[in-house]
Amino acid sequence: MNTHKQLAIWITFFLIGVFALEIPPEYQLKCRLCNNALELRDCTKQEICDNRTEECYMEQVITDAFTIQYRGGCKSSTHCNGGTAVATGKRDEGIVCSQCCGYANDCNSRLCGIRQGNITASQCYFCDDSKSDQASVSRPEDCITFTNCDTDQVCSAHDEYHPGSHMTYRYGCMNKAICKTLTRVLFRDMEHCLNRTSLECNHESVMCDVCCGDTGCNYGACKEIKERLFRLYKSGHYNMTTLQTT
Ligand SMILES: *[C@@H]1O[C@H](CO)[C@@H](O)[C@H](O)[C@H]1NC(C)=O
Ligand SMILES: *[C@@H]1O[C@H](CO)[C@@H](O)[C@H](O)[C@H]1NC(C)=O
Ligand SMILES: *[C@@H]1O[C@H](CO)[C@@H](O)[C@H](O)[C@H]1NC(C)=O
Ligand SMILES: *[C@@H]1O[C@H](CO)[C@@H](O)[C@H](O)[C@H]1NC(C)=O
Repeated sequence: MNTHKQLAIWITFFLIGVFALEIPPEYQLKCRLCNNALELRDCTKQEICDNRTEECYMEQVITDAFTIQYRGGCKSSTHCNGGTAVATGKRDEGIVCSQCCGYANDCNSRLCGIRQGNITASQCYFCDDSKSDQASVSRPEDCITFTNCDTDQVCSAHDEYHPGSHMTYRYGCMNKAICKTLTRVLFRDMEHCLNRTSLECNHESVMCDVCCGDTGCNYGACKEIKERLFRLYKSGHYNMTTLQTT
């Protein structure tokens, strides 16, 4: 084969490669790109994903050095199972949380409790029929209102199932002393049910309550928050006095 022919073949391959990578604008989903980030502020770029085959994901990881880091970007939809992602981390790392979303650009910037750069300490999501500007919501991602909780309060989330209707998600503040008790009981019950399949452990309650002390930590469905906190607790990264990630 002469060199001109070879060159032509290479150029053809190069062009096919470039155009195959181009995602039509209507299918572009922008996802926050986090690479071992400590908080959202560290994730300064977005990755462009193909919404026909991919979703945005966020992972909260406990590294070999026992620090908590976040990784996020595009992930194949087949590895995103109804919002829960199949973890991609190294084997000896602890994956505390792994979630996917595809409903909006940048949607993964709120997953897995990643600390939000622009909200101040002691702010919590606040969606509650009785007091907030925003009523309780039927999808967790719809809650976009924040409030400043008192210094003796922490963030809370409450899910309620209404037979024959949709779930409602309520967010706000809760007394810290009450939260400590609630969390102790919650973790004790979760510990008790770890490897059990008994009726009492499989029973799905119509209501779910959870609370936590980190800024904006009450984002998402109560069940997901509970599981994330419990995994942090089990790995020694949740302080039961401050109710914060350590
Ligand atoms: C991808 O985005 C387009 C346009 O925004 C939308 O019509 C389509 O439903 C999306 N596809 C998926 C799988 O989300
Ligand atoms: C934080 O910033 C995001 C996007 O930059 C914005 O949507 C959100 O409302 C901001 N939150 C607060 C509490 O200002
Ligand atoms: C529960 O199961 C996991 C693996 O599925 C195992 O590593 C762990 O030791 C078990 N815990 C108890 C208390 O049996
Ligand atoms: C929890 O935080 C408090 C206050 O910062 C600290 O005094 C305590 O030692 C921490 N507990 C653990 C188990 O790390």
